[in-house]
Amino acid sequence: MCGIVGYVGGGQALPVLLDGMRKLEYRGYDSAGIAILLNGKMGTVRRAGRIQNLEEELEGRSFEGNLGIGHTRWATHGAPTDENAHPHQDCTERLALVHNGIIENHDVLRSRLEAEGHAFKSATDTEVAAHLIESILERRNCSLKDAVLEAVSILKGAFALVCIHAAEPDVIVAARSQAPIIVGAGDGVGLVGSDIPALLQHTRDVIPLRDRQVARVRPGSVEVFGFDGKQVVPEQVHIDWDLEAAEKGGYEDFMLKEIHEQPYAVRDTMRGRFDEKGRVVLDEVKWDTDTIRAINKIVVVACGTSFNAGMAAKHAIEHWTRIPVELDLASEFRYRDPVLDEHGLVIGITQSGETADTLAAIRFAGEMGAKVVAVTNVVGSSITRDADAVLFTHAGPEIGVAATKTFLAQLVALNILALYLAQERDSMPEDKRLETIEAMARLPELIEKVLDVEGAVAKAAKKYADASDFLFIGRGVGTAVAMEGALKLKEISYIHAEGYAAGELKHGAIALLQEGVPVVAVMTGQPLYEKMLANVEEVRARGASTILVAPHGDERARELADDIFEVPQVKPLLTPVLDTIPLQLLAYFVAKERGLSPDKPRNLAKSVTVE
Ligand code: F6R
Repeated sequence: MCGIVGYVGGGQALPVLLDGMRKLEYRGYDSAGIAILLNGKMGTVRRAGRIQNLEEELEGRSFEGNLGIGHTRWATHGAPTDENAHPHQDCTERLALVHNGIIENHDVLRSRLEAEGHAFKSATDTEVAAHLIESILERRNCSLKDAVLEAVSILKGAFALVCIHAAEPDVIVAARSQAPIIVGAGDGVGLVGSDIPALLQHTRDVIPLRDRQVARVRPGSVEVFGFDGKQVVPEQVHIDWDLEAAEKGGYEDFMLKEIHEQPYAVRDTMRGRFDEKGRVVLDEVKWDTDTIRAINKIVVVACGTSFNAGMAAKHAIEHWTRIPVELDLASEFRYRDPVLDEHGLVIGITQSGETADTLAAIRFAGEMGAKVVAVTNVVGSSITRDADAVLFTHAGPEIGVAATKTFLAQLVALNILALYLAQERDSMPEDKRLETIEAMARLPELIEKVLDVEGAVAKAAKKYADASDFLFIGRGVGTAVAMEGALKLKEISYIHAEGYAAGELKHGAIALLQEGVPVVAVMTGQPLYEKMLANVEEVRARGASTILVAPHGDERARELADDIFEVPQVKPLLTPVLDTIPLQLLAYFVAKERGLSPDKPRNLAKSVTVE
């Protein structure tokens, strides 16, 4: 997620911007830039890579000015290059703008603005906003605030925009549509940030803009307006967190913060991928319909959590597209002499885009003539260079080593890909596709509801934190959830845990069951629900403790559970998106009970770049 900083006041803007950008470094970024108003002219410097690259570029140059904005970019549209780094400017170069989020209608607006004569210098969606505001200012000759108000009524998507203009040297205008932006004013200064740490050194009284609000920030004052232009009374909050707590948004750990970011991760991953007629739009996949229809086999390759996402997706892909799907651990794939040719499609899933085994697997698949689509969270990562097509998850950077929000985003991205293939192959009735898309659109709201189980999970974690073994069982897509629940628990709590297909219990693992062994059962939707109930009975009969993830209000599940985490009902193939959340929380709270740091589990790295 990009970081935004803005400063206006009596002091020098540059050190405040650089300091604020450093405070936001923890969010992850791939380029950085600043714009400062210098003697009536807007000076900008932008560099790919670390803030240090930007500082080296600034060395020895005079950047004295009292108004400026800075940005650390996490690429979403356009590679992480100098040209695509923010701030972006209009044609007059009197306006500078930074942006966080996604402008969905950037394509249409870019064509319109180009037709009006605007010249674009980058491949970003952000630059569209700069030229749009320029064109409004030209037409209306209005204030920057009024131009931004008109622009936000035209822009679609989730965004936080911050801009400055040479004509108004004491003003920063900030706008929020879903993506967070915080403004504040101290003694003779005005400040803007995408997150509290950027402001903390200058003020502890901040105004988090509400959705669909615009702020005009001047030294010592803030005015807030609704998107309808009406002025509103700003809601100020006092922050008493220290810097570390502020980075984590008040959560104790990044992992917990990221679990709570899942509604946004899922919403952002779906954004712009369905048109008004309910068709899946995947501009990233440029194969013609004949090529898609000729696919006769899909192989999913991935590691760890990404593999579990693939395991869940196999069900949806096969059900919707009727193409057979093989699932391979990336580390195994190239050593087993797989059968693959130009009619094969290989899906490589990797949140980091850097996992050595997954990269090797997709390169190998490419050599065999198969088409390769990568599903990754990191723009510009290695896998994006080796794949024929890339489907990005828009979960934002994940800092906790245990993958959480990127897993949910992968599940959703893979469903989108499956729906797309089904649509292009006519393998799924249209009404069923529309119904599924509608159900997916409700997921972010349902995830919010699932997060309410946190208290119940924390309580259960106290009970089971001393266990030496856990078993996780499920059926169908629930098996993938069980595997993921077990992986999360073992990696951050160091408790031995196994994920198992519930039907396999009686073929071996049932021998492990005895008094007190916690068994987590994922009560996947019909038609497997009854069978899961029978498995839970088997478990109880051996004296094991049962922890159930079950549909809300299900009395039979309540009767069989020692502990129950209830989740709203959704279509069976979408259940992993909700059912995984209580298990992420369980792993988190068990680790906390055991005095461990969930963000930095021993022996693990966020990206595994060795085989
Ligand atoms: C588990 C976890 C790892 C990764 C695995 C693959 O929480 O984070 O199992 O999922 O190392 O990483 P990516 O998805 O980056 O290829």
